[in-house]
Amino acid sequence: MKKYINAVVYGHDDANEILVDNGLIKGIGKNLGPADEIIDLEGKLVTAPYVDPHLHLDYVYTLSEMGRDGAGSGTLFEAIEMWPKFKENLTVDSVKKLAIKGIYDEVSKGVQHIRTHVDVTDPKFTGLKAMLELKEELKDKVEIQIVAFPQQGMYTYKGGRDLVEEALKMGADVVGGIPHYEPAREFGEQSVKDIVELALKYEKLIDVHCDETDDTHSRFVELLNALVLMEGYGEKTTASHTCSFGSADNSYAYRMIDLFKKSKINFVSCPTENAYLQGRQDTYPKRRGLTRVKEFMENNINVAFAQDSINDPWYPMGNGNMMNVLDNGIHLAQIMSPEEIEKDLDLISYNGARCLNIQDRYGLDVGKDDNFIVLNGDSPFDVIRNRAEVLASIRKGEYLFKQKPVDYDVKLDLGVKY
Ligand code: FE2
Repeated sequence: MKKYINAVVYGHDDANEILVDNGLIKGIGKNLGPADEIIDLEGKLVTAPYVDPHLHLDYVYTLSEMGRDGAGSGTLFEAIEMWPKFKENLTVDSVKKLAIKGIYDEVSKGVQHIRTHVDVTDPKFTGLKAMLELKEELKDKVEIQIVAFPQQGMYTYKGGRDLVEEALKMGADVVGGIPHYEPAREFGEQSVKDIVELALKYEKLIDVHCDETDDTHSRFVELLNALVLMEGYGEKTTASHTCSFGSADNSYAYRMIDLFKKSKINFVSCPTENAYLQGRQDTYPKRRGLTRVKEFMENNINVAFAQDSINDPWYPMGNGNMMNVLDNGIHLAQIMSPEEIEKDLDLISYNGARCLNIQDRYGLDVGKDDNFIVLNGDSPFDVIRNRAEVLASIRKGEYLFKQKPVDYDVKLDLGVKY
């Protein structure tokens, strides 16, 4: 038995101790039983590990590899056009070499669960093979879920749909798609039908790049939601991006939000990425590029934030710091009331876990996995306002890393005291 004392435990106002044993949480409360080892957390906030529910690990650092510091005009469609020329020369080893850098970025900042979209519009499946290997090799450090993602389309890319099916047979966990990139609305709709059909056939989760455009006529989320509602498959489904829904007419949004509540579909928003990519055809006012995060939260529709890209043709920045993603997201979505701030950390932890369908073993509760992080602050408000660093990440009772807060050689002294 091991006991963590003097902790502020996220979601447990009356507790200051966590008792763990054999990789599981055995108790959360006060004055818990004896333990072989006691660790003093010095009043810091403990929460469940960060979850990044949407990251393109086969793309990380490829922008620098292309010898570019920026990404041209900065539109989504330009980036999709840049990608095929580069991916021709990828090897399993070259993908793994860059992906491991991205994984390190994230795990070293408190992430323990990543859902990665891997491009399978490649008959050689180079990215998928690399990620299947990494998933197995790193399973003790980080849990990786793989989406079979047809970056160039199920129909825009000839045979794309069948490549997705093959990727599922090879071991991908989740069916992906990109209906707004198909060559006509009817093909986008067909791809959404294919996605749901394949998920049901192979008993896989669903995560669709859905309506990643400001075009309010892009409404594939409506069809996706209807299909999973009718199949009772909403909780296993995620609609990523849904940027166009942020531009939708209020009367349409009102109707859809009711249907989203019925299906229990999940949403992922990528605030840094979409603030950068969207609004590119706007003059002023310029749209923010985000879906209706605030309204989803108000209606108890599950929504999580994600990094999406680290230095790839779609987005030149990104460093795996989910606190940075959260900070951007709460500004862009305007979610900073006291009640909202109490729930904002969920956007990079619990809500992502629900997208990944791991809520049965994830979180700070008795019987769940002994995985958590320690933040340099003593409340959700404190850590968010200060964009606090992660001081420790603990997985199944072992430290993935541990660090001290900054220790100054010479500390700033303003010279006056009040
Ligand atoms: Fe994406």
